[in-house]
This record gives sequence, C-alpha cells and structure tokens, in this order.
Amino acid sequence: MAMVRQEIRFLLNDDEMHLGGVGAGDTLLDFLRIRQRLTGTKEGCAEGDCGACTVLVGRLTGGGLRYEPVNACIRLLASLDGCHVVTVEHLRGADGGLHPVQRAMVEHHGSQCGFCTPGIVMALYALWMETPRPSETEVEIALQGNLCRCTGYAPIVRAALAAADHGGPDGDILVTERERVTAALTGLRDGARVEVVRDGQRAILPADVNDFATAYAAEPEATVVAGATDVGLWVTKFLRDIGPAILIGHLDGLQQIEECEDALTIGAGVSYSQAEKVLLDTFPHLREYWHRIAGWQVRNMGTIGGNIANGSPIGDLPPVLIALGARLVLRHGAARRDLPLEAFFLDYGKQDCAPGEFVESVVVPRPQHGVLHGAWKISKRRDEDISSVAAGFAVTVAQGRITDARIAFGGMAGVPKRAKAAEAMLIGAPFEGESFVRAAQTLSQDFAPLSDWRASADYRMRVAQNLFQRFWAVHGDNGQAELQRVEA
Ligand SMILES: Cc1cc2nc3c(=O)[nH]c(=O)nc-3n(C[C@H](O)[C@H](O)[C@H](O)COP(=O)(O)OP(=O)(O)OC[C@H]3O[C@@H](n4cnc5c(N)ncnc54)[C@H](O)[C@@H]3O)c2cc1C
Ligand code: FES
Ligand code: FES
Repeated sequence: MAMVRQEIRFLLNDDEMHLGGVGAGDTLLDFLRIRQRLTGTKEGCAEGDCGACTVLVGRLTGGGLRYEPVNACIRLLASLDGCHVVTVEHLRGADGGLHPVQRAMVEHHGSQCGFCTPGIVMALYALWMETPRPSETEVEIALQGNLCRCTGYAPIVRAALAAADHGGPDGDILVTERERVTAALTGLRDGARVEVVRDGQRAILPADVNDFATAYAAEPEATVVAGATDVGLWVTKFLRDIGPAILIGHLDGLQQIEECEDALTIGAGVSYSQAEKVLLDTFPHLREYWHRIAGWQVRNMGTIGGNIANGSPIGDLPPVLIALGARLVLRHGAARRDLPLEAFFLDYGKQDCAPGEFVESVVVPRPQHGVLHGAWKISKRRDEDISSVAAGFAVTVAQGRITDARIAFGGMAGVPKRAKAAEAMLIGAPFEGESFVRAAQTLSQDFAPLSDWRASADYRMRVAQNLFQRFWAVHGDNGQAELQRVEA
C-alpha cells in the first residue's frame, strides 16, 4: 500500500486545520460547537431534518470549486478532508457589515428565532450564490431542508426574493477569494490514503476506488459511509460505534455519470444533486418526484448508491429505477458482477451483497419509444418526508395494446418489489382505463403491506391501486373523464 496520512486537512472559514485524533463517528457539528466554539451553527434535531446546523462545504470537483449547503449534525468530520467549511460566522457584506442575505432577512422580518435563522441564512446564502434572482418555487425548493416551527415562511421567502437588491455574488468573499481557496485546497491534496483514529474508532479515507476495493475486501466488517445521511443517524440517534469506517464521499471515481447511447451509468457516489440535471433531462417524469426526496442539504450529501445499498423498503429510488429496468454493478476487490436491481433486494434487511462487496454503479437504460412513465411518492408531508408508498411505472404501448409493463412499489413489502401479477394482467390488454382498473384489482396478489405509524395496510393498498388510475389519468386518451368515472 502507498503512503498513509494520519491527519485530515481542511479549511475552516479562513483557517487551515490539521487534525489527527478524529474518530469514525465524530460529527462536524460537535467539532464546530464544542471544539471551535463556533456556536452560530445550531443543533435542532441532530438527524438532518431541521436545517439549523446548515453550513456550506466547498470541494474541488471536475468543474472547479463548488459550495453546497449540508447538515453539519450528520456530516462526519473525517469526510471533510480536502474541503472548505464555511460557517455563518464567515458571512459578511462587501463593506464588512451584514451580508445581503442577512440584510434582506432583517428588512423583511424573516429573522424569527435564534435557532432556525442561522441555518436558513446559510441555505439562502447558497441559493443566492447559485441563483441570485430566484423564483418563488426555487426558494421553496432551497428551503425544503429548513424547518421553521413557528410557520413564518412568508417573510423568509420575501427576504430570499429580495436578497440580491442588497448586492450580488460578484463581491462575495467566496467569489473574490475563489482563486486563493482553490490553490489552498489543491495544496492539501497529496493522493494518499488517510487513516485517523480516536478512542479506537478508526476512519479510513481510501486514496481512490481501487484502494477502496482493497481496503473493504481486507476489512469486510467495516462500515462503508458515502453521504452519511443514513449512517450519521446511527451515530447521533442510536449512539452506535461505526468504526472502522471506510469513507467514500470524496472519491471522484465513484461520482462519474457516463452518458452512452443506450444507457446512463451512474457512479454509486453520485449525490442526488449531482445526478439531478442529467437524470431529469433524460427522464422528465422524475422531475416532481425528485424534489420530494429529502431537502436540499440531504440531496447534496445523500448518494444514489447509499439509497440502494441501505436495502430500505421505503427508499425512493429503487421503485422508479426498477421500473426503468436498471441494473446494478457490484464490485469485490477487482471482480465485478451485475444483476437486475430488483434481484439485489432479497428480503427485509437482506441484500445480495457479499462481505467486502460494494455497489459501484447503477446502469439505467435510456427511455425507449412507446414507453409511458410514471413516478409517484405518497407521504404525510409534501416536503422532506419518508414515503408511505412510492411507485414507478413503465408501460409500453403499441397499436393500442400494452406490450410490456414494469411496475414497482416501495412501502408495500419488506423490499422494493415489482407488481408481477398486475404487470401480467396489463401485458396484452388493450390500452384503456378498464385494463388499469383490472390490474389494480390484482395488486393484493402481489402485496400484503403492513400497518405502521406512517400508514395502515389498507391505506397503502388503496393508494397503490389508485396510482393505476392516476397513470391512466395522465397518459390515457380520455384520461380525466376516465378517472372521474372510476372514482365515482
Ligand atoms: C432528513 C432526511 C431525509 C431523508 N429523506 C429521504 C427521502 O425522502 N427518500 C429517501 O429515499 N431517503 C431519504 N433519506 C435517507 C437517505 O438520505 C438516503 O437513503 C440516501 O440516499 C442515503 O445515501 P448516503 O450516501 O447518505 O448513505 P450512507 O448513510 O452513507 O449509507 C447508507 C447505507 O448504505 C451503505 N453504502 C453506502 N454507499 C455504499 C456503496 N457504494 N456500496 C455499498 N454500501 C454502501 C452504507 O454502508 C450504509 O449501510 C433521508 C435522510 C434524512 C437524514
Ligand atoms: S440539527 Fe437539525 S438538521 Fe442538523
Ligand atoms: S424561525 Fe425558528 S421556529 Fe420559525
């Protein structure tokens, strides 16, 4: 093995940090508040939900230095190697006074409580840098990960819309200092594997994907951590020791999206935000669905591979990717194998994945002519909520008949699963509303959902059946009229 560095190095606001004693489960938020006394970043929920802990993390990517808002409460400290962490204390206007976002928050009475405001300001800061004149919808999407319990969103949205009146990003410190920060981050890179430890809790940052494969094959009991939006909660909520942990969020080799003629190959480490443009351009039916997954901060951290590898029956991507005919590439050491995505999910909590084997990429075939798509998520809250039921539909129609159907559901069984009986009922049937009514009626042969605090079994079954009507309502020739007839 090549050189191993025993400290992580990153920039915190204007300061360069070199830290050796870092444990696998140490969080950025604890480091900021307890060790650095940067208490502007708050702890509300410690589970990635409320956004009070929002900071910006800048990282060198193929496209240069890119800043994103993330949740410091579940972001593992060791994962910041090579990054620039920007906290609310770093904000200032070009004149040294309040930053334009802060000024707008004051002017529009958006600053309501000391807990949420710093996190809201940081999310709006990131939005203002990317889109200084956002639409109201863009503001709402940017604030999905910031909960305000006093429900005073209107003044915050007004402040976001007006921030650029107080100055644009050109004079902002992260723009004027871009070259210097880029040079500093480049100087921190040495291509080495990093291993740090505290109280026996080891964190390993492989040098590249091959090094990851070697490290994981050698220590198959290690916890693989990508975005930590699941694993972070094991630490903060379940107080679990996750060491030794192999952190892979920095591996560029897992963050590539290959656009071939017949398929997209998406690296397991691609975040929701990184995948957004290509995936939504290719599959426009996922647009609304996409912004129902978590909030902005979590979409910046959470990865496609993590959403699949966690094996959750209520992960949002598996049902829609299964419907699209996706295949998974798994790797162990130098050996690779691929399998249909649905075959990966064996049973509740059990995946077809050997010790030391990891998800390397997911291959999604491009849409074919004649295939109609649907993707729906049913949850109690519109924004930042976990699915009660999620569904992906891909139905092929030729000359008025259904020639193929791939329909998959999450939340209806212990694993994300295809509705095989309903698919069989559709294949060969005329493309008409009645066919979808009949297919929906067979759904009880495919699923026997459970009741839990998210939804009852009866609700899950009924809502899943209704999605067949919805598919027809969207795609059918006389869709709306048919829907009303079925509902009457
Ligand atoms: C506030 C909040 C809201 C959320 N909302 C949603 C939502 O709306 N919909 C939804 O589906 N999920 C949601 N999640 C869950 C989570 O964000 C997703 O499942 C995310 O995709 C996990 O990716 P990650 O990279 O953060 O995984 P991590 O937490 O890093 O890892 C998750 C699991 O996958 C394993 N793993 C990760 N990458 C690999 C790999 N390449 N190979 C093998 N194993 C791997 C890890 O060992 C771990 O077991 C939410 C989470 C939070 C905190
Ligand atoms: S403290 Fe609530 S999201 Fe981090
Ligand atoms: S701003 Fe904190 S609860 Fe509304």
